[in-house]
Amino acid sequence: MNHPISVAIDGPSGAGKSTIARAAAERFGLIYVDTGAIYRTVACAVHRAGASCTDGAAVEALLPGIRIEMTYDDAGAQRMLLGGEDVSDAIRAHENSRRASQVSALPAVRAFLLEMQRSLAREHSVIMDGRDIGTVVLPDATVKIFLTASPQRRAERRWKELREKGADTALEQVLRDIEQRDYADSHRETAPLRQAEDAVLIDTSDLTLEQSIDAVCAEIARHLRTGGAE
Ligand code: DC
Repeated sequence: MNHPISVAIDGPSGAGKSTIARAAAERFGLIYVDTGAIYRTVACAVHRAGASCTDGAAVEALLPGIRIEMTYDDAGAQRMLLGGEDVSDAIRAHENSRRASQVSALPAVRAFLLEMQRSLAREHSVIMDGRDIGTVVLPDATVKIFLTASPQRRAERRWKELREKGADTALEQVLRDIEQRDYADSHRETAPLRQAEDAVLIDTSDLTLEQSIDAVCAEIARHLRTGGAE
């Protein structure tokens, strides 16, 4: 059997990681793993248990009882199960984003999820997106990409998505939320969001979605062809 390959895509929220990673997974026949969804599922479990996502001791006590599974539906989309219940839609709720950011700052949560993420990459060829994939989870990833865009551009994209879903949120509010989450994700002590030294930076601020997908796929193809030696 060929050794599995792994592509790590890190970056702030709203840079387009999941859409781009999903498209690249299809082009290269990789399994897409959205690690943010796993943190979101932990946040959902903690909230349902009536604990605060900022209470480290309470969250740590809950972890052994949290049963998370990842499956893929017929269309190849990742589904998250919590104690057997499909929570894939519930974890996207706006309030759960803040809670996910809070639980993701807890070292016990990161340790709990580390082996789960690594074992996926040992068993399959994956493209995994998150905040610390290239720096902590898969430091030996075949390809590492740091995907970013200006806060203003990321807010505009998110705001459009929200409007299409019928939400009436002000652009300024979306921008403030993005800036707060960026700050929290990159200033926490454990596994903060930062670019791995050997990651390639791709800034999608002035790229269309198609151009962003092509840029990421070109980078993956270059590494697969040359081992990154060009
Ligand atoms: O990518 P996302 O917005 O679904 O992630 C939800 C939260 O989880 C986000 O605030 C950062 C955190 N996260 C993390 O700390 N490490 C990861 N590998 C993925 C997500």
